[in-house]
Formats: sequence, structure tokens, C-alpha cells
Amino acid sequence: MYRSRLGNDLNKITLDYVSSISDDVEIALYDILGSQAHTIMLYQNKIITKAEVKKILSALESIKKEKFEKKSDAEDIHELIESLVIKRAGSASGGKMHSARSRNDQVSLDIRMKIRDDINILCSCILDAIEALVSLAQQHQKTVMPLYTHLQQAQVGVFSHYLLSYTDSLFRDIERLYVVYGRVNQSPLGAGPVGGTSLPINRQSTARMLGFHGIVENSIDATSTRDFVAEYVSVVAILMTNLSRIAEDFVIWSTSEFSFIELADEFTSPSSVMPQKKNPDILELTRGKTSEVIGHLMAILATIKGLATGYGRDLQQIKSAVWSTSKISITTLLVLKSMLLTLNVNEKQMKKAAEGGYLIALDIAEKLVQDGIPFRTTHKVVGQLVQAAFQAKKPLSKLTTSEIKQSVKGTTVDPKAVAKIIQSISIFSSLKERTSEGSSGFNEQKRMIADRIKKTNAYRIGITKRDGDITNSLSNLSKKVKSLIK
Ligand code: ARG
Repeated sequence: MYRSRLGNDLNKITLDYVSSISDDVEIALYDILGSQAHTIMLYQNKIITKAEVKKILSALESIKKEKFEKKSDAEDIHELIESLVIKRAGSASGGKMHSARSRNDQVSLDIRMKIRDDINILCSCILDAIEALVSLAQQHQKTVMPLYTHLQQAQVGVFSHYLLSYTDSLFRDIERLYVVYGRVNQSPLGAGPVGGTSLPINRQSTARMLGFHGIVENSIDATSTRDFVAEYVSVVAILMTNLSRIAEDFVIWSTSEFSFIELADEFTSPSSVMPQKKNPDILELTRGKTSEVIGHLMAILATIKGLATGYGRDLQQIKSAVWSTSKISITTLLVLKSMLLTLNVNEKQMKKAAEGGYLIALDIAEKLVQDGIPFRTTHKVVGQLVQAAFQAKKPLSKLTTSEIKQSVKGTTVDPKAVAKIIQSISIFSSLKERTSEGSSGFNEQKRMIADRIKKTNAYRIGITKRDGDITNSLSNLSKKVKSLIK
């Protein structure tokens, strides 16, 4: 449609190479809505007449029902929609729609509208996943398990504490998305190709009609930048790394060696050859798809970093990376949530593992600290106690008086006090006494759960409001369209 300056048309292979139609299906509706707001603004500012606005808007309304998958010789959705408008409204009216804008502000607008919706969907999926984590945490406040560092047993803890740790990671993911949303939700429309327009447009008015919070003011910036895309995809990549770490823990914990958890059958896969297998393929795919999103982020940053200021066609290539990022993250959250709600937790096995090691070593040392002994001394004494117990293949509570005496040798620690502590201490008493804020202590679980439920509800209200603001603006736009075409 735009080739008057040029000679021959693109041949089929070149057109396929240049075309973004297949990626653009995702933004077709946004492109139509943006075109409607733009057309109404042209009318409000007397750039087109009442009869013209009516024809263009009617054409755009009818195009909403179009399926865009089918092959076309347009280079992209913007050209395709404009050519359909011209066909349906006639070139005298339809040919005026593209006044005072360019595909450069248009494509940026469409991507912003798409990411804006995706962020709202993602936030609500994150909240669903948080609710699943919290509800599982509620059931497992007393489910004792080992906590690990270096994947070696570290301290005794409870399963709810683990689940709540990812609740908090996901809250940070929401916070990041929440902030990015503010920067995405600004309209580039009316920036033109790069330097603006001489026609008397009103950029604030199109922004308002489309539910944006404001405009990307500088027209060079508005058409050039994709930093909002890089920001969105990096925040989602971070979210995915959190989900991927949960997946990795669950893969390890569902092995027969650990048997801490069992995934519901509907979240596992069999083997084509080994009949006994119950493989955690879905969790493995979470790890694999996380790599894919990280790859998308790299592709986007690499595209942007060397691009001269102003629109460059390279930017077309980042769209599919954005769509894929949204799809992967949203589906991962949906699957994770259902998996959590059907998870079988083997409390006995977790407890056995927690009792089997010397996980209360630090708790014993801290008891001696409470008696006024320097921590460094208690660390040494308890290290020797553990070594003695390990060599004699018995629990700390079974150490003999002489073994204890041997362990405290050279210190001021009273062996009788040590004997008393190791007799009376248990993983349960340790967890009762673990009172520091945010610890594995039983009381902390209750407090954190109540607090996180409140926080979830507050975010729900915020996200519902944002979503409602968009719906309201777009339904007002639709009313305006209807009244102008009647
Ligand atoms: N299909 C293009 C994209 O997705 C739209 C903008 C094209 N602009 C241009 N001046 N060639 O990025």
C-alpha cells in the first residue's frame, strides 16, 4: 500500500521475510481500538468531518470480527487494517485515518496495551499462586523438616516457613510488575514517525480514551524506546527464576531418596519404556521455560543496544519474545497453583530426615550462649559433641558423661549443664523457642500467614481497580464509537 516511491513489489519470499502479520495477531484488537480513539480525536479536533468519522469507525467496528491469521500481502497488521478500512469506508474517508500518526507510534501503542493487560493477568495469577502457597502453609505450620544450605542439612524448620519464603518472593515480583505497569501505561500515540505532526491533534485525549495514565511526551523517545519492554521481560525473567527454584526443590523432594512430597498423577509423566516411572516433567519444563524467558530478555537487550535513535525495523523482532514471555509465565503460574493444591506432603518422611541428622546443633549452642558462654566457645564444644556422636553412630542425647566431658575439655563449659541441655532439647522445643522475627518458630508461622493473607487482599483490590480503569475507559470508547456511527 505504501510503495508509490518504489518500483517493483516485494516477491513472496521477501514479503514473508519482512512481514510481521503472524506475530501481529496478538495486537490486532489493540490496533483497532487505538485507531478508533485516534479517529475520534481527529474528528474532535476538526481534522475530519462527522461523515468521515462515521465511515471510518463503522469500518473499524466491522473489522473487529475479522480473523487475521489468514495470509495477506500486507507487511503488518497496521497496513492490513488501514487497507481494510479504505476498502470498506472508501478512500475519500478511509484514506484520512492515518493522518497525524505513523506505524511507529502505533506499534509502540499496541505493545504497551498488550503488556498492560498481560501485567494485570500476571499479577492476578501471582496472587492465586500466593494464595495456594499460603493455604498449604496453613496446613503445615507444624510439619517439621530439615532446612538446607549447600543442599546439606542446616537447621530444623517447618514446611510452612519454606512455602512462605516463596510467598514473599512472589510479593516482590508483584511489586516490581506493579511499578513497571506505571511506566508501560503511557501513550506514545500522536508522536508520529519520530518528530510529531503539524496537524492540531490532542495526544492527551487519545491517551485518556484508551485508559492511559499519561503520554510518553518526547516524540523521539515515544517511538524509539523499548525500555519498557526490556523492563517488563526482565521483571518476568526474575519471577520465572523464583518459580524455577521451587520447581527444582520439588524435583529433588519427589525423588524416592527424599520422598518429602509426591506430585499428583496429573502433574507427572510416565516413561515410554520403564513402566514404574513417575517423572516430574512439568517441573522440569518450568526450569526449561525459564531459560527460554531469560533468552528472550537477552534477545531484546541485544536488539536495543546498538540501534540508532528512532524506529528501526529490528524492533519488529522483539514482539514474539514478549508474547512468549507472557504466555510462559502465565501458564507456569496456573500449573504451579494447581500442583500446589494437589500436592501430597509426606510429613513422616520430612520429620524422620529432620531427626536423623544433628540439626539442633545450633540450638544447643545457643542454649549455652544463654548461660553466658561466648558463642565461639559453644560452637567448638557442640562441634566436638557432634563429632563424638557421629563417630559412635548415635544421637546427641545418647552421649555418655565421659564423652561430654571430653568435648568440653579446655573450656569453662560445665559438662552437667551440657548433659541437661542435650537431654531436654528436641526439634519441637527448638521450634517453640525460635522466636526471632521471620524465623521457623511455630508462633512466627501464625503471624506471617495472617499478615500475608492481608497483603494478598490489598493487592487484589489494587489490581482489580487497575483492570477496572482500563475496562471503563474502553467501554466509554465503545459508547462513543456507537453514538458516532448510529
Ligand atoms: N511491523 C512493524 C513492527 O512491528 C511496524 C512498524 C513499521 N514501521 C516502519 N516504519 N517500517 O515493528
